[in-house]
Amino acid sequence: MKVTFIGAGPGAADLITLRGARALAEANIVLYAGSLVSRDMLVHCQPDAEIHDTASMNLEEQVAQYERASSLGWNVARLHSGDPAIYGAISEQMRALETLGIPYEVVPGVSSFTAAAAVLKTSLTRPEVSQTIIITRAEGRASAVPEGESLASLAAHGATMAIFLSGAGLTKAIDELLCELPATTPAAVVCKASWPQEKHHTATLGTLLDGLTADEWRLSTMLLVGQALASEPGAVSRLYSPEYSHRFRKAARDPQ
Ligand SMILES: C[S@@+](CC[C@H](N)C(=O)[O-])C[C@H]1O[C@@H](n2cnc3c(N)ncnc32)[C@H](O)[C@@H]1O
Repeated sequence: MKVTFIGAGPGAADLITLRGARALAEANIVLYAGSLVSRDMLVHCQPDAEIHDTASMNLEEQVAQYERASSLGWNVARLHSGDPAIYGAISEQMRALETLGIPYEVVPGVSSFTAAAAVLKTSLTRPEVSQTIIITRAEGRASAVPEGESLASLAAHGATMAIFLSGAGLTKAIDELLCELPATTPAAVVCKASWPQEKHHTATLGTLLDGLTADEWRLSTMLLVGQALASEPGAVSRLYSPEYSHRFRKAARDPQ
């Protein structure tokens, strides 16, 4: 018996990893975060698996299910949206399992910030523009953001920013970013990447909210900001240049 924390990916049932789908298929009991994980994902489960939506369960109730499964010798699949290591609230579950002596493992998943980049058909890193991605979040009631990690102070780096949990506070987040970044900085919001309801909007920081009804972007929205999102051509990586040699490939011609 073991508990497997599985990254469900951003939403689409075929964006889970093969390992994650296999663990789901082997589980007798499945706990999934119904507020963020699509029910479509349950297509990978055994037909007689016991399914629990954790949206209405507190930690104690979830741990009680782990204990019950352990006493029955049942495998548990615990589905988290995207990758469990990012805003997944898994640490407290892991500590409880360790205290109870219940074995567990983690299967990573496709995070929503890369799924959002895929929707936009963009790269989050560009040579000479930004080689750094800051993963952060808008402040929320459940988890405080430490001092020194304000959006404005992170924006000062000029890196690409993937701002999670921003849907409910888009105006505030953009106001903070504008304290450090020019209004012309490329910006985009992607809602429900890979779900049938997926939508996105691309503009600049100064114009992003023009014509948007903020309420329609409250849930499962990713805010991406940074010059790397610009559509105009710029410097490209030399990795595939015919003039560039590396350990696995000799240059086809000399650099000019
Ligand atoms: C509690 S966090 C979980 C993040 C998740 N662990 C991950 O790696 O994507 C929830 C936030 O992730 C983002 N998110 C999750 N799924 C998304 C999707 N399909 N499209 C856009 N953003 C998504 C939103 O910012 C949402 O508010």
